[in-house]
Amino acid sequence: MANIILVGAQWGDEGKGKVIDVLTERADVVVRTQGGSNAGHTVFVGPQKYVLHLIPSGILRGKTQCVIGNGVVVDPVALVREIQDLERLGVRVNGNLRISEKAHMVLPYHRELDACAEKLKGKQSIGTTRRGIGPAYADKISRTGLRMLDLLRRDWPLRLREQVRASNRLLRALGGKPVSLAPIEAEYRRAARRLRPLIVDTVQLLHDALDEGKQMLFEGAQGSYLDIDHGTYPYVTSSNTTAGGACTGSGVPPNRIDKVIGVMKAYTTRVGGGPLPTEDATIADLLHGMGREFGATTGRARRCGWFDAVVTRQAARINGIDEIAVTNLDGLDTLSEIKVCTHYALAGRRLDRVPADLDQLAACKPVYRVFPGWSKDTSTARRWNDLPRNARAYLKALAQLSGAHLAMVSVGPARDQTILP
Ligand code: GDP
Ligand code: IMO
Ligand code: MG
Repeated sequence: MANIILVGAQWGDEGKGKVIDVLTERADVVVRTQGGSNAGHTVFVGPQKYVLHLIPSGILRGKTQCVIGNGVVVDPVALVREIQDLERLGVRVNGNLRISEKAHMVLPYHRELDACAEKLKGKQSIGTTRRGIGPAYADKISRTGLRMLDLLRRDWPLRLREQVRASNRLLRALGGKPVSLAPIEAEYRRAARRLRPLIVDTVQLLHDALDEGKQMLFEGAQGSYLDIDHGTYPYVTSSNTTAGGACTGSGVPPNRIDKVIGVMKAYTTRVGGGPLPTEDATIADLLHGMGREFGATTGRARRCGWFDAVVTRQAARINGIDEIAVTNLDGLDTLSEIKVCTHYALAGRRLDRVPADLDQLAACKPVYRVFPGWSKDTSTARRWNDLPRNARAYLKALAQLSGAHLAMVSVGPARDQTILP
């Protein structure tokens, strides 16, 4: 075990929460570095299901130090609710969670602006989670955002009032609903009371931990193709979801990172608008029919498609993925034939990358290689050799096509449904 960045290699929901939970057994510190409560990371501990939005998935292992880094946008009220939900389930949250004083805050006017922008886009809407993520990052970049440390300052009401005024001007212009200052102030003051002891200089904390030789796990949220720079823009989220974001979002420099793990499903899903080249009704019907692939944050049905190796290969390059973890292999158990997109055809030519121009991407035809299925339940497999021969061949091909080493296979949501080849 070393300092590891874990990223999603597709469009999010790859099973990062499950993989983080497995890896946390050997980690001292788990850090979230970007995104906010748009994330929904599912972890099963025995029969108990947990869905984590802002808190690192490491929280479920009692002794792990969890950190919400400076790159995350934090809705303090949602965070307190998440802490309380965990506590109700018997998970202790106190000294084991720290929040960066530099993390920007999500406020109710951000959520309202998010909804407003989506409505104005009409058919071109992104299909955001409506958690106010885009507008909160927009304020950060515009240098008008409020940070967690502002919540603890005496002049917090003044700062808040200024921002509410400015945002309401914008909301009115966009035909949205202005927000009221007083209830926000009261609600955020209550949240501040709970969060005050947790808000610290996390850069210092992380560097102290590095100096002590502690092992760190950086828990990526979303996926590489939702990255603001490298994703299918504008159908993306507003942060850098790729490996570089882990460094800027935590203050841990690149030369302290030892390994990058890319998590990918054995097929592809995406939730919300935007391109999904290998989208296919057969696999969507199959997975939805099994009650699978409904969003952990919004409950929306996820769009489904075949494994796209153009996507994962490019993700491997951008993130520097050393190892891959393939999840949800069991979702394919009943298929007699399984398709994998090896490259695209564009105007009669072979294309081995994901074009930035969405019109070009829409014109790309996935070229498939067909693999024989294994028609056998893999969810009870615990060792590599327990897997059917065709499943092993399929997994080897995914790794080879993605250009990275296969380090983990997941055959079910539980901790023990994990194979280390
Ligand atoms: P994340 O956002 O990347 O953490 O992924 P989500 O939690 O949003 O979605 C992944 C879903 O797949 C969750 O419901 C997990 O419990 C589930 N899951 C993860 N790995 C496996 C697997 O190998 N098999 C099955 N059947 N479910 C899995
Ligand atoms: P995890 O961490 C899947 C998608 C939304 C939308 C786009 C922008 O669970 O993998 P946003 O609310 O971020 O402005 O929405 O990004 N999206 C996700 N899709 N998994 C996620 O997180 C996502 N977080 C955002 O559906 O298409
Ligand atoms: Mg998710």
